Amino acid sequence: MSDLHDRWVAERRREYYYRLAKKLDYRSRASFKLIQIDERFGIMKEGDSVVDLGACPGGWSQVAKECVGESGQVIGVDLRYIHPLEGVQFIIGDITDDNTMIRLLDMVGGKVDVVLSDMAPNIAGAYSMDHARSIELCMYAVDVCDRILKKKGKLVTKVFQGDLLEGYLNELRKRFEKVVVHSPKASRPTSSEVYVISTGFLGAHNVTPKKLDTEEAKPEFSAKGGNF
Ligand SMILES: C[S@@+](CC[C@H](N)C(=O)[O-])C[C@H]1O[C@@H](n2cnc3c(N)ncnc32)[C@H](O)[C@@H]1O
Repeated sequence: MSDLHDRWVAERRREYYYRLAKKLDYRSRASFKLIQIDERFGIMKEGDSVVDLGACPGGWSQVAKECVGESGQVIGVDLRYIHPLEGVQFIIGDITDDNTMIRLLDMVGGKVDVVLSDMAPNIAGAYSMDHARSIELCMYAVDVCDRILKKKGKLVTKVFQGDLLEGYLNELRKRFEKVVVHSPKASRPTSSEVYVISTGFLGAHNVTPKKLDTEEAKPEFSAKGGNF
């Protein structure tokens, strides 16, 4: 298939899911990726509690809320502001920042059934850098699992493919019974992104999550004029 043809197919697909999202009132085309992943792997069910990392504008959170229903809980986290969504709680913050992690742990107040991460770095254009940053974000999602995922729980992460992927999969294999790399139909065929579906969390039995820094940030300057 020619490069031009691939691009044409990708564009048509993009447009198709864009229109479908508008029609069905989903906030993003990405919603269909999660719908397709859930249909295939049975990730979420009624009553589950779900953490959605990289949730803005809220497409995955909408799908998660539909799956878990009234009795379930969905908490979304993103760097960017997310317009309110009924039945979903949002934290605006950077998951790589300990304060955000602490807020998330507080809000969850226990353990969750599913962790989702559609987080993506700002694309710098240098592929190996974008790939490394994507893997780093995935490792933060794994850190969230180590802290709050129930045994037998599930994790879905988006990752940009590259040479660090195998190392990341090995980290997952230490913690989950089954790890599968998958590309949903709603992903563009030319895209470098894949989704890693990890099921059957074994517990963070052989890892120690890093200690969170709970100290308030200290001011970087002190008032001039000596001691008071
Ligand atoms: C592809 S979008 C997610 C789309 C979303 N799943 C949806 O369906 O609406 C990726 C998101 O990851 C977020 N993100 C990237 N780095 C992050 C970080 N360190 N902490 C929290 N969110 C982050 C970005 O702000 C961006 O909104």
